[in-house]
Amino acid sequence: MVSLSRLMIILPALVMFSSIAFGHGDEDHSNGAKKVGDTEIVANEISKEDLDIIALEYEKSVKPIFQKKCYDCHGSGNKKPWYYIVPGAKHLMNSDISEAKYHMDMTNGFPFSGHGTPLDDLNSLRKTTKENTMPPKKYLIMHWGNSLGNEDKKIINKWIDNSLTKMNKGEGQ
Ligand code: HEC
Repeated sequence: MVSLSRLMIILPALVMFSSIAFGHGDEDHSNGAKKVGDTEIVANEISKEDLDIIALEYEKSVKPIFQKKCYDCHGSGNKKPWYYIVPGAKHLMNSDISEAKYHMDMTNGFPFSGHGTPLDDLNSLRKTTKENTMPPKKYLIMHWGNSLGNEDKKIINKWIDNSLTKMNKGEGQ
């Protein structure tokens, strides 16, 4: 059980943290970034076979990481943190979760649902992994989740690299 005095400390902190943590970044979602690191990404179509291979690799190596560290917001079925019972917190979190899922819903594996193409998603995953912006920093302070470790990042980046290579090949480049 959560004591009242604990709630009185947590609640204001939570409201503050939520507006900072989940405020919209200044990322531009409109044009689907075409650049990843120094690699110019030209493909926007990919064969069904390649997509299947990418999805299988995702299931095997990346999904276990995302399930642990991203599904609280980008997926379904995970347990909620203890402070989820606080009415205001619940409301804030639900809207953050629906925004996270609008951008990228990982519930049903790769390709993710959401507004982006598979290529857009790989590009933004590369960016958030490199820049350490996901999970959001303030969320980590509340211990509702985990940051990505170096080993996680290696696995994710390897999957992204392999996938982007396949996509480029798909265009006959
Ligand atoms: C506390 C909730 C939360 C967690 C946990 C979280 N995210 Fe997010 N994520 C969001 C929200 C909210 C947005 C949309 C607003 C924004 O872009 O900041 C978002 C956006 C993104 C985007 C940008 C999508 C786009 O359309 O450009 C990527 C990529 C992403 N998250 C990846 C991840 C990954 C990978 C993890 C786990 C390592 C993760 N997120 C964990 C809340 C979360």
